[in-house]
Amino acid sequence: MTDLLIKGADLIGKGRKDLLVRDGRVAEIGSITAKGAETVDADGLVLLPGLVDLHTHLREPGREDAETVHSGTRAAAKGGYTAVCAMANSHPVADTAGVVEQVAALGKAAGYADVQPIGAVSVGLEGRQLAEIGAMAQSAANVRMFSDDGHCVWDPILMRRALEYVKTFGGLIAQHAEEPRLTEGAQMNEGAVSAELGLPGWPSVAEEAIIARDVLLAEYTGARVHFCHVSTARSVDIIREAKARGANVTAEVCPHHLLLTDEAARTYDPVYKVNPPLRREADVAVLRGALAEGVIDAVATDHAPHAPQDKDCEWAAARPGMLGLETALSITVLALGGPSAVDWDVVAERTSRTPARIAGLEAHGRDPQPGTEANFTLVDPAATWTVVPADLASLSRNTPYAGMELPVTVQATFLRGRATVLNGKIAEETTE
Ligand code: DOR
Ligand code: ZN
Repeated sequence: MTDLLIKGADLIGKGRKDLLVRDGRVAEIGSITAKGAETVDADGLVLLPGLVDLHTHLREPGREDAETVHSGTRAAAKGGYTAVCAMANSHPVADTAGVVEQVAALGKAAGYADVQPIGAVSVGLEGRQLAEIGAMAQSAANVRMFSDDGHCVWDPILMRRALEYVKTFGGLIAQHAEEPRLTEGAQMNEGAVSAELGLPGWPSVAEEAIIARDVLLAEYTGARVHFCHVSTARSVDIIREAKARGANVTAEVCPHHLLLTDEAARTYDPVYKVNPPLRREADVAVLRGALAEGVIDAVATDHAPHAPQDKDCEWAAARPGMLGLETALSITVLALGGPSAVDWDVVAERTSRTPARIAGLEAHGRDPQPGTEANFTLVDPAATWTVVPADLASLSRNTPYAGMELPVTVQATFLRGRATVLNGKIAEETTE
C-alpha cells in the first residue's frame, strides 16, 4: 500500500497539521512533505476519529430486500463511520455463534466498515430462555454486547441471569427499555397530540420504569447495562442519579430524538413512526442538554431500514424505524448548537471515542497518534447538503429528513488507512 498524506487537516486540540499514514497506521503528525505518497488536501476540513455506531440494523440475514451488510456498511462509510455494531434482530436471529460469525464475515468481505455483531440475550428474542451467550462470546465474532433490541428484556429474572453471565467476561447488556404491558397497541407518544389524533399512546413511563429497574439490577449484580435510544426527560434524570451513585450504566440517544417531536405524527406519514416514539419538545431539549453534558454518553443511529411494503402503508400497519447512518453526524451537530457553535471535541467524544469504549473496539475511537490505526473521517464544517432519498447508499428510503438542508458533509472516511469514501463518494466499490 502506498503511503497516504493528509495535508492541512484541522486536528482536534492540535490545530492544522499534516498526517502521514503508512501500512494502515498513523506514522507521523506535523509539517510533512512525502514524495510518492497519495495526497489528500484537507484544507478547511476537520479530522474526527472514525464514527462508531452502537446500534445499527443491517437486516442480513433475512431481510436483504431492506438492507444487507454490504449496503448498510456502505451507508455507514458515507456517514463517516468506521465501525458499526450490528443488532441481533435478523432472521434467523443472531442468537448463535454461527449467525454472529456470518455477519462478521460479511462485514469483512464488504470492507466498508468494521462490523461488530451484537448477540441476542434470549433465544429468538422471545424473552424466555438465555441465548448461547458464552458460545457467541468465545466465537470468532468475539461478541461482548448482547441485546434483544426491538424487544425489551422484560422478565427481571432473565435480565438478572443475563447480567450475571456477561459480567463473568466483562460483557454488557444493551437494553431496549420498554415495559410491554404499558405499550400494548401503542402507535405514538402518549400525550396531547396522541389524544387529538386518536392514536393509542406509548407512555414515557414504559421506558422509565425499565430503566429504573435495570439501574437497580446493574447495581445489585455489579454488571454493565447500556440503555438504547433514551427518549424521555425523566429517563435522563434516572440515569443521572444512577451515575452519581456510581452505577455501571451508559446510555445512547438517537439523532431523531434530538430533532423531531410527536407533532410530526399529525402528517400521518409512517416515516415518523419509530420505537421509542418521537416525544415532546421538552424531552428533545433535555436530551440535547444531557448529550452536551455527557449524562447521555453516545449518539447511536438505530438505523432501521424498512422495505416499501413495510413502511408505505397506513400508520398502524407500518413497522417502526427510520434510516440514520448517513444523516447522524449532521443532526448531531445541529443538536449540539450548529456548525458555527459546535465543540468538535464533544462531537468526537459522543460519536466516536465513547461508543468505541462502550463496545470495546480498541482500534476505533482513537485520536491520531503515531502508531494508532488510521480510522478517521474528514468533515467539511462549512458545507451543507440536501437529503435526497434516492441518493442514499442504504437500500431503503425511509428517511424522515427528505428534502431538508443539513449542515456538515463527510468528505472522506479512512479504514486502516484505506479510503472508503473520497470527495464525498464511495472510493472503491466492492461486490456483494
Ligand atoms: O424503531 C425501531 N426499529 N425500534 C426498534 O427497537 C427496532 C427497530 C427495527 O428493527 O426496525
Ligand atoms: Zn430498540
